[in-house]
Amino acid sequence: MNVSNPLSQQRSLHSILEHLGQPGSRNLIPTPALLCDLELLVANIERMAGVTSSGGVGLRPHVKSHKSAFIARLQLERGAVGLCFAKLGEAETVVGALVAEGIDATISALLTSPVVGARSAERVVALGELCDLLVVVDDPRGVDELSNACEGAGRRLSVLCDVDVGLARTGVVDAAHALTVTERIERSPWLDFVGVQGYGGHLQHIAGREERREATKDSTRRLELVVAALTNVGLEVPIRTGGGTGTAGIDIELGLLTELQAGSYVFMDREYRDALGLNDEGSFAQSLTIATTVISANQKDFVTVDAGLKAMANDAGSPLVVGHETTSQYHFFGDEHGLVTMPASTNFRRGDRLELVPPHCDPTVDRYDHLWMVQGDVLVDVVEVTARGCSQ
Ligand SMILES: Cc1ncc(COP(=O)(O)O)c(C=O)c1O
Repeated sequence: MNVSNPLSQQRSLHSILEHLGQPGSRNLIPTPALLCDLELLVANIERMAGVTSSGGVGLRPHVKSHKSAFIARLQLERGAVGLCFAKLGEAETVVGALVAEGIDATISALLTSPVVGARSAERVVALGELCDLLVVVDDPRGVDELSNACEGAGRRLSVLCDVDVGLARTGVVDAAHALTVTERIERSPWLDFVGVQGYGGHLQHIAGREERREATKDSTRRLELVVAALTNVGLEVPIRTGGGTGTAGIDIELGLLTELQAGSYVFMDREYRDALGLNDEGSFAQSLTIATTVISANQKDFVTVDAGLKAMANDAGSPLVVGHETTSQYHFFGDEHGLVTMPASTNFRRGDRLELVPPHCDPTVDRYDHLWMVQGDVLVDVVEVTARGCSQ
């Protein structure tokens, strides 16, 4: 449990935990709260593990979506070859928690964002003592910083060249640029070049499989050109990592990637469902909801609930109201509140509990200390969002 919680909150949590496993206990969870349907979550984890293993690629799920050691463990136990992390702090916290719990095998952890500066490079090398660590670079200065930190600690490190496949967020911009970075890696006695990363974040939510496939072909071509240039100079490129929930099936068809970094499939938020629909990549279950309570019902056409901007990210629009998807609409109503429209046939009352499908899972999860695991109307577990706020 998070020790920074006020004592009263901890007491309230303990009193609810006494009802764990009891019918109706879902309704005791204080709102707003992040709920996860455990059966749907496990089904999603197993489904993506099946899709990737039958497609002949590894699954290295991205922890940024859930930030939870509990879920990372479920993914590893069900066949993931390793884990991805967006931030050093996220990796330190979740890997640290898994190791402290005594996980059996050594974790293979990939840091998918480049790090900058000597202090961060030292933290990378220290993290490498806890796991098999892989880290991406996209700049010769980043290579030097990592090499110096390795020399200081007397430890080797595996590095990948991050390739911009069209997102233009990080990564070398073309094959010549990749060669500059990999030459620098090859010059370091402390670094081992193990592959490339090409993550097409701009592709994942393209609606329509054909449109998404065409765009993914272009991005894959960019990565292919880099791989060819590296192979030409005699480098082996055993790891080719990338992809997400939206392109998983397409990436498998195109055949360049050796492992997929999908993250959101564990929860399947509203934005993803809108883009992917219900076939192929889209048919993961929506396992994540936000429980909220009607705190005022004095208006004719709408009620006010206790979940607003602080309860979920709004970059991807509004949440859906579970069970009332076509008849009620949620509107953000400030920091702490939301407005839920109510047609004449619906009569939401003060104290009613509603559930919302979050528009965008990753930044929503980071607003909560706990994930309340439910099955039907039963609260079955409470797990920490282990790396909540660990964004440095
Ligand atoms: C580098 C990287 N890989 C993988 C993912 C996971 O993608 P998704 O959540 O769309 O499955 C992300 C998400 O932003 C990412 O930044």
